[in-house]
Amino acid sequence: MSIPAASSPWSRKNPFPAPLRVNRSLCAPGLGKDTRHYEVSIAGSGLAYEVGDSLGIFPQNEPALVEEMLSTLGFSGEEAVTTPDGHEVPVRRLLGRNCVITEPDKKLVAAVALKAGDTDLHSMATDPARKDALADYLWGREIIDLLIEYPTARFTPPEFAALLRKLQPRLYSIASSPKAHPDEVHLCVATIAYDSLGRPRKGVCSTYLAERVPTGEPVPVFFHTAKHFRLPENGDAPIIMVGPGTGIAPFRAYLEERRATGAKGKNWLFFGSRQRTEDFLYGEELEAFHRDGALHRLTLAFSRDQAHKIYVQHRMREEAAELWKWLEEGAYFYVCGDAKHMAKDVEEALVHVVEQVGGKSHEEATAYVQALKTTKRYRKDVY
Ligand SMILES: Cc1cc2nc3c(=O)[nH]c(=O)nc-3n(C[C@H](O)[C@H](O)[C@H](O)COP(=O)(O)OP(=O)(O)OC[C@H]3O[C@@H](n4cnc5c(N)ncnc54)[C@H](O)[C@@H]3O)c2cc1C
Ligand SMILES: NC(=O)c1ccc[n+]([C@@H]2O[C@H](COP(=O)([O-])OP(=O)(O)OC[C@H]3O[C@@H](n4cnc5c(N)ncnc54)[C@H](OP(=O)(O)O)[C@@H]3O)[C@@H](O)[C@H]2O)c1
Repeated sequence: MSIPAASSPWSRKNPFPAPLRVNRSLCAPGLGKDTRHYEVSIAGSGLAYEVGDSLGIFPQNEPALVEEMLSTLGFSGEEAVTTPDGHEVPVRRLLGRNCVITEPDKKLVAAVALKAGDTDLHSMATDPARKDALADYLWGREIIDLLIEYPTARFTPPEFAALLRKLQPRLYSIASSPKAHPDEVHLCVATIAYDSLGRPRKGVCSTYLAERVPTGEPVPVFFHTAKHFRLPENGDAPIIMVGPGTGIAPFRAYLEERRATGAKGKNWLFFGSRQRTEDFLYGEELEAFHRDGALHRLTLAFSRDQAHKIYVQHRMREEAAELWKWLEEGAYFYVCGDAKHMAKDVEEALVHVVEQVGGKSHEEATAYVQALKTTKRYRKDVY
């Protein structure tokens, strides 16, 4: 859901061109991964947001990949094609701005197979019984790989354009409070970069921000409300925040907000990353929040600072007695970051805490955590 301010003409349909003011790494050089802090300006937009909300960004594709695709397809780039929204544009612009040019779907695979006369590939793309084989084949494979592997698959520009999906915006948790940074939005974004099939690959939006938007240039943005992920209305309520990696983003915003409003409730943050000296995201700020009493407890899990992995959920188990005390005092429990593994492991750890310290059976502990959810004291924003 997109908000907008009655006074503002800007929306998801008409994104605001927000100038990029700051782009800096939060990681030590040479780490092999890069998570960055961004600031964009929304001055003059009439837009407003609350902590917990996300910012939507419309990215552009990498120009070098666009050019490689054009030359592989034998297009000049000037040929007229129709966008998924029905506008006529040169094919270079369509590939650069309007369509997904990285991840292939089965429709495109089937079209390539048909043009190239590869019956096995065609059956993989069209036979539901071969769904898993298709997923294996597509893992790490991009559209450019298919075009290179099947040079006999020739398309006209309109034929090719009709096979592509519309490029979608990406959402990012807002890492700032509007009370602490009026007219600004801060983000914490992990740059996606990896190798597959012998080629370097790049996440579209995270590398658009990291590499392709010069400081001062506008980024098309909109706000995405997250009513389920607000701070408690009662500023006296304690909060427990679990946010490893980029999951820290909304919690930096919460801490800024609670400081700005003078909220009296206690704040406890569980943060995790690889190494204290390499990717302790916002480390100095978090330690300052802790020193000045705005953050009552700061519990850290550096997974690679010792021989065995230590994650936030391990720290939760170590802190079981205190966690239970906070929960019984009415604390709200927040989780942000990886949905695939972390959020599940954290929930399991919470059940374990309730079981161990609360003296409950596994079923009772599960019901206790379920009740936290139904009473909206367990709030998640995971991706
Ligand atoms: C509500 C919400 C909030 C979010 N908040 C944040 C945030 O605060 N910070 C943040 O960084 N992200 C956040 N995200 C994720 C963000 O929206 C994007 O999904 C992310 O930045 C990747 O987008 P991209 O365009 O760079 O990559 P894409 O071009 O979309 O590529 C991502 C894809 O690359 C593939 N991939 C990635 N790594 C590998 C690998 N090693 N091997 C093979 N394939 C791989 C996977 O298929 C993955 O789906 C959030 C998402 C949601 C829904
Ligand atoms: N859907 C998307 O497109 C998308 C985009 C960006 C990020 N994400 C997810 O969001 C998360 C945050 O991204 P990030 O790059 O900032 O994180 P990250 O740096 O990869 O991970 C942060 C910390 O979490 C640890 N960790 C790994 N598995 C864990 C688990 N099961 N439970 C708890 N901690 C775990 C990592 O340890 P080790 O690395 O040492 O194991 C590291 O110490 C990632 O896990 C990523 O999968 C998803």
